Amino acid sequence: MRDTLPYFLGIDVSTTATKALLIDASGQVAAVAATEYPFETPRPLWSEQHPRLWWDGAQQSIRAALAQAGIDPAQVGGVGLTGQMHGLVLLDEAGEVLRPAILWNDQRTQAQCDEIHRRIGRERFIQITGNVALTGFTAPKILWVKENEPEVYAQAAHILLPKDYVRYKLTGEFGMDKADAAGTVLMDLKARGWSEEVLTALEIPRAWMPPLYEGPQITGRLTPQAAAVTGLKPGTPVMAGGGDQAAQAVGVGAVTEGIVALTLGTSGVVFATANGAFIEPEGRLHAFCHSVPGKWHLMGVMLSAAGSLRWYRDTFAPAVGFDELLAPASEIAPGADGLLFLPYLTGERTPHPDPLARGAFVGLTVRHTLPHLTRAVLEGVAFGLRDSFELMKSSGLGEIRQVRVSGGGAKSPFWRQILADVFGCELVTVNTTEGAAYGAALLAAVGAGTYESVEAACRSVIQVTGSTAPHAEQVGAYEALYPLYRGLYPALTPTFHALRGEDDSHPRSP
Ligand code: XUL
Repeated sequence: MRDTLPYFLGIDVSTTATKALLIDASGQVAAVAATEYPFETPRPLWSEQHPRLWWDGAQQSIRAALAQAGIDPAQVGGVGLTGQMHGLVLLDEAGEVLRPAILWNDQRTQAQCDEIHRRIGRERFIQITGNVALTGFTAPKILWVKENEPEVYAQAAHILLPKDYVRYKLTGEFGMDKADAAGTVLMDLKARGWSEEVLTALEIPRAWMPPLYEGPQITGRLTPQAAAVTGLKPGTPVMAGGGDQAAQAVGVGAVTEGIVALTLGTSGVVFATANGAFIEPEGRLHAFCHSVPGKWHLMGVMLSAAGSLRWYRDTFAPAVGFDELLAPASEIAPGADGLLFLPYLTGERTPHPDPLARGAFVGLTVRHTLPHLTRAVLEGVAFGLRDSFELMKSSGLGEIRQVRVSGGGAKSPFWRQILADVFGCELVTVNTTEGAAYGAALLAAVGAGTYESVEAACRSVIQVTGSTAPHAEQVGAYEALYPLYRGLYPALTPTFHALRGEDDSHPRSP
């Protein structure tokens, strides 16, 4: 650790709140503040949010965090940004927002995904970007705006991702980190730069795309105007940071091959670092750049993980706290007496890239009670994440030596145990619990020279604090149930597709 300014700020522009987290140079959390906001679903399959909410939230949260820590803003040595990935932010020539951002969990663009594969060729697209085009990613959203809102498209001059809009407001600079940028699927993954081939094929002007940076690099400095509204000092450097999943991985120390990060947030993620541009040949796992310079990662994403439990609680037991809800479910045997839950409440990505997939309870009888349903939800999410874990194990990336579990859902020891039993492997927890915002603050500290590398920062501040070992008997019970869970999606797909909402005018191509 080198002698630099003593505090670093991480800002996480998430789907539900913008959080500001101050750490000191040894990695201790000094303050944390969050400003919540809603997102809109104006039509079935749509999910939007106005960028104004992020900037208002960032200003409030930064001021609150500085006040909480009671420090002189001149002591903040850098700001790192992170946030929800893939959201399309369109600005005009003057830097004004053209329409609400189309978010990562928006599912309207299947026809545009099919069009991308048609124009470039599916295989070639995977070879260049590392991924298939999925509805949540940014590129198909750009095509959707072109086709459906030509008057908006005609005014477009800049494309940003959510956290990069906050960067623009803080610094006046357009910029994007490579981890988040890879999730636009407009990048040449291996070359870590924009793909001329993909941009040309999709007729997206190169001039709309911002400069790209590695996670710890400085992208600009606080303008006097931004300093006045946030309380930070003009000239404070703003580092690139990373998309929330890469920053989360930094925040739990998943920065070397062999360590897998399992995150149980609204979405559920299985994440593994790769030293090269490793691609799962069928594109079944996402392959993106890491926030660690010169590294990449593979990832499986379930769209409704802890989000499934939140929906379930809000719908079936709105007045009940999560602890109170989960306790009686721990009295029920694994398998919830023959009840299975399919967690595709907002469609799915991994392993079934299908915007029209739906949730289901299967096997209900009059003997089932609320605790059975609760247990089935926790188990269904665990089975869904196991699907990504199995893909990761068979991807050829190499041995998984440790699985680090984090995120809001992982605070429950009961859910952690179910995960360990369903995965059939030990899960560990770490001392850092502030997730992506913490990773972003660490990236800022690396950029300011406090640590010589992201790996060195993680080694210095992150330790394993606990472990959940699988119970042999439960592992056996879940092994028997997993094939039944696996059979549900193929069996129910025709029904899901037949039930599709009337506003879905773009059925999947065969
Ligand atoms: C990752 C993804 C989600 C969002 C959630 O590919 O879409 O995890 O980033 O914020």
